[in-house]
Amino acid sequence: MTWAAITGWGKCMPPATLTNADLSTFLDTTDEWIVSRTGMRERRISHVSATELATVAAARAIACAGLAPDDVDLIVYGSCSNEEAVPNSASGVQLALGATRAAAMDLNTACTSFLYGLSAATAMIRTGVVKNAVVIGVELISRYMDWSNRSVAVLFGDGAAAVVLQASSREEGVLGSALGCDADARATLRVRGIGCGYANQGVTLGDTIWDFDGPAIFKRAVNAMSAASTRVLAECGVAADAVDLVVPHQANLRIIESVARHAGIPMEKVMLTVERYGNMSAATVPVALVEALDAGRVRSGANILMPGFGGGLTWAALLVRWGGRVTPLGEATRELAPCPESALELVNGIRAIQDPHGRSAAGLAAPVFIGK
Ligand code: UT7
Repeated sequence: MTWAAITGWGKCMPPATLTNADLSTFLDTTDEWIVSRTGMRERRISHVSATELATVAAARAIACAGLAPDDVDLIVYGSCSNEEAVPNSASGVQLALGATRAAAMDLNTACTSFLYGLSAATAMIRTGVVKNAVVIGVELISRYMDWSNRSVAVLFGDGAAAVVLQASSREEGVLGSALGCDADARATLRVRGIGCGYANQGVTLGDTIWDFDGPAIFKRAVNAMSAASTRVLAECGVAADAVDLVVPHQANLRIIESVARHAGIPMEKVMLTVERYGNMSAATVPVALVEALDAGRVRSGANILMPGFGGGLTWAALLVRWGGRVTPLGEATRELAPCPESALELVNGIRAIQDPHGRSAAGLAAPVFIGK
C-alpha cells in the first residue's frame, strides 16, 4: 500500500507586525478587548503578493525535503487570497519556483483550504496520480479586509507555509480525513465585493463588506471541529490520549480551548500561534506545524491531530502520523524583499484607497444565484 509522507516543510511570515495598539489608532477597540475575547496580540501584514509569500514558503519546503523544484509533480495552492482568478495562483508559484514539471491547482475552502489540499494531495499520491506534491496554505487578507469594521479587522493576518508530500511504503502522513461543510450557515461568513457576482457593481480594490456573525460562527466552529476530531480519531482507531500534538486552526483561543476540552486533550499538547499571528485562514495550520517542528515539539512517529473550520462553512479534521525525520535535509536561499514600511503604514496605505465616505461597497447585494 502507498502512503504520502510529509518530508518537507517551510513557512514565510511577512516581517511587519501590527499590534493591538496599532489597531486602536484607527478603530474603536482596545488591547484588553482583543486579548480577552480572542487571545490575539499581534498579526503580520504583508508588503509582497500572496504568490511571493507562497513561493518562498514552497521553496523552503522543497529544500527541506531534499528535492529540487523540477522534481515536483503537483502544486496545490490552498487559499482564498488570489491576485487573479485566471490564470490561477498555483501556476504563478510554478513559474516563480521553476517547477516546470508540476501540475498546478488552486483550492479554496477558505480557512480549511490547506487541510482540504493536504487530504486531496494525499489521495492523489495514494492512488498513483502523482508521486509527490507541494501543498501550500497562504493568505493575504490585509488587501481585502474592511479596515473600518472592528468586528473583523482585529482578527486576521497574512502568512504562508507549505509542506512536501512524497509517496512512501510506510504507514505515515495523513491516516484519515473527516471533511464536511455546514452550508446552511454559509451566509454567516461572506466577503461581499470579491468575485464575478460583483463585476458590474463598481467595486474598487479593498472595497469589501464583511458579513460576519461572530457568535454563530463560534458555536459552529466548536461543534464541527470537535465532532470532526472525534470522528477521525475513531476512524483511525487512535484514542484521544494517543494524540501527541494538536495543530488546530487558530481563529480564537477560546474556540481552541473548547475543542481541546471536547476532544479530551490537554492544552499542553496544543500548538498555539494565535497570540502572535491571529487568524491567517488557510496559512494558520501549516505555519503552526512548521513552528512546532522548529520548536522540537514533533517527535518521529507522533500522532498529530489537525482540526479546522472556515467560510462555507467548511470543516475538517486530519490525523497525521509523522515519519522518521524531524529535521530539514536542506535550506532554500530564497528570501522576501526587505519591507520598507511599518505594518501600520501598510494598513494605512490600504485604508487610503478604500472608500472613506459611506463605503461604496455597502450597497452591494450578495449575488442571488449562489443562494442564502
Ligand atoms: O476562521 C474563520 C472562523 N472564524 C471564527 O471562528 C470566529 C468566531 N467568532 C469569534 O471568534 C468571536 O465571536 C469574536 C471574537 C468574533 C467576537 O467575540 P464575541 O465574544 O462573540 O463578541 P460579540 O461579537 O458578541 O460582540 C460583543 C461586543 C459587541 O458590543 P455590544 O453589542 O455588546 O455593545 C461588539 O460590538 O463587543 C463589541 N466588539 C468590539 N469591541 C471592541 C466587537 N468587536 C470589537 C472590537 N473591540 N474589536
